[in-house]
Amino acid sequence: MNPDKKSTFTSQAGIRTEEIHHQKLKDWVAEIAALTQPQRIYWCDGSQQEYDELCRQMVEAGMLVKLNPEKRPNSFLACSDPSDVARVEERTFICSIHKHDAGPTNNWMAPADAKSILRGLFQGCMRGRTLYVVPFSMGPLGSPISHIGVQLTDSPYVAVSMRIMTRMGRDTLRVLGSDGEFVPCLHSVGMPLQPGQKDVAWPCNAEHKYIVHFPEENTIWSYGSGYGGNALLGKKCFALRIASAMGREQGWLAEHMLILGVESPEGKKTYVAAAFPSACGKTNFAMLIPPPSFSGWKITTVGDDIAWIKPGPDGRLYAINPEAGYFGVAPGTSRQSNPNAMATLHGNCIFTNVALTPGGDVWWEGMTEPPPPSLTDWRGRPWTPDSGTLAAHPNARFTVPASQCPSVDPDWEKPAGVPISAFIFGGRRSSVVPLVVESFNWNHGVYLAATMGSETTAAAAGKVGEVRRDPMAMLPFCGYHLADYFDHWLEMGHAISDPPRIFAVNWFRKGPDGKFLWPGYGENMRVLKWIVDRATGTTDAVESPLGWVPRYENIDWHGLEQVSREQYEHLMTVKREEWIDELLSHEELFMKLYDRLPKEFVLQRELLLASLWRSPQAWKPTSH
Ligand code: GTP
Ligand code: SPV
Ligand code: MN
Repeated sequence: MNPDKKSTFTSQAGIRTEEIHHQKLKDWVAEIAALTQPQRIYWCDGSQQEYDELCRQMVEAGMLVKLNPEKRPNSFLACSDPSDVARVEERTFICSIHKHDAGPTNNWMAPADAKSILRGLFQGCMRGRTLYVVPFSMGPLGSPISHIGVQLTDSPYVAVSMRIMTRMGRDTLRVLGSDGEFVPCLHSVGMPLQPGQKDVAWPCNAEHKYIVHFPEENTIWSYGSGYGGNALLGKKCFALRIASAMGREQGWLAEHMLILGVESPEGKKTYVAAAFPSACGKTNFAMLIPPPSFSGWKITTVGDDIAWIKPGPDGRLYAINPEAGYFGVAPGTSRQSNPNAMATLHGNCIFTNVALTPGGDVWWEGMTEPPPPSLTDWRGRPWTPDSGTLAAHPNARFTVPASQCPSVDPDWEKPAGVPISAFIFGGRRSSVVPLVVESFNWNHGVYLAATMGSETTAAAAGKVGEVRRDPMAMLPFCGYHLADYFDHWLEMGHAISDPPRIFAVNWFRKGPDGKFLWPGYGENMRVLKWIVDRATGTTDAVESPLGWVPRYENIDWHGLEQVSREQYEHLMTVKREEWIDELLSHEELFMKLYDRLPKEFVLQRELLLASLWRSPQAWKPTSH
């Protein structure tokens, strides 16, 4: 099929046939077109002109609302079908040849079975639609850490989102050349149009959703959803599930981590990478603005969601952000909680499932206090503060270029990446887990990260607020057996001469009144400073049953009256009985992974139990 023959675009837009030299890619596109039977094929060039034209078409079709250009230039609102609002973990599959290689925490299907089911669904599924060919690079073009993918999708919303989230289009195709390697990513919303059938604002398939990965073939097939990680296949599917499997083979790490730089008043720069589960504060932490008392300190942003991490020649680990944009949680984002994010969102955004103001701008819960008197909610219904419903969906998101972030790090696109001095792991735990702990050593740190628990959030379909084990914040994102993943982590730290220090944090511990004990947000700088000082060997700590922790005196409290010494003790208390229950729940995870679990983990658990056994019933940093 001639790619530009049936295109609705002007002759300048789109990649022309004569520009495509990659026979394998051409063959694959032809094969998928024969299967899915789109009305036309369009090769995305990634230009602004193309982006504008696609958005214009979507506005015309009622799929996007153009926001008031005076308030939010070049920005749009999409509202999804109410059944398609988050990642669907139950419908996500790792299709390795052997079930055991996917492990007990992933859904599994035999590759042949998955292909036969999915081929049935893909048969004719793009009828009446355009097939967009989206060449994209995860990571800066030309970086030795980067990898290329090509997504075929029948969603123009996905095509424009991929332009924000990745390096997409002609330049990537050029790097691919005539025989470069790419990860084939096939996506359909799963709603073919019969001749004359009117389209809907958010096509998807309410009945069948499949997010399927073939780690042994580095291939992704996704059907039935147009939302987020289900549909923007470069993100969770490629950059985490497929890439984690690639990293294990090739000796690197693909992690659900933000990357930030800490600059001291003397100009000393330290980079850290931090893993928190979905909707647990990565974007916030990545863009942190230090409190006024930290004058001269600066935080810079390399990435807010995913890190690809490789050993460098000097024995340190180097990280890149494989993405080029942020797909961030909107609710809770305000000038108070995250001023850098608010500034990033000045224009060139796609908002999804937020509310619309009468003036043609966007609003979500927590953006302003009080809320506007009247809005159109994410479902298109009139809304007032008395409606008793949420104006924005709890998993409403913004999509925006990373380059617009005022705190973006000068080296955020450096092909070699940035050197990582500390790994931070954090969950959302209203009790039990202290504010901050530093591991005794690499193995112990990997254990702390692997046994991390977190309360579930709206980022995934299902129950919210239940504690589950979420190792390294990767439970829904690891493309192979979790125990093998732990083994890979243990291996990585010992394979290099200068591994980062490992820390665990919890911003979410609550007091008896049900309120957060820790102010969070910008104040997290105080904990971050202690972490950086530890990583660079310039501050003190005390040994707790769980690891090294700061004494009250080791944290810089200037300008923060809110946290008393007593409250700090509450934040740091390690209660023996609670932790014995916690260890039982570690054991539950270990039972599942038993036959491949690294021996170190069993021993670490024993050591932890032993130190809890001899510690006071309620251990506090000041009682020592
Ligand atoms: P994904 O994009 O889903 O991977 O999530 P993320 O980790 O980037 O989440 P994000 O930064 O958008 O976190 C959003 C939620 O965390 C909101 O409910 C915030 O209010 C809350 N949050 C972020 N930082 C803090 C903090 O320091 N303290 C408290 N209490 N809440 C926080
Ligand atoms: C997450 O859920 O961790 C996200 C959003 O970052 S999504 O891309 O939808 O997975
Ligand atoms: Mn995420």
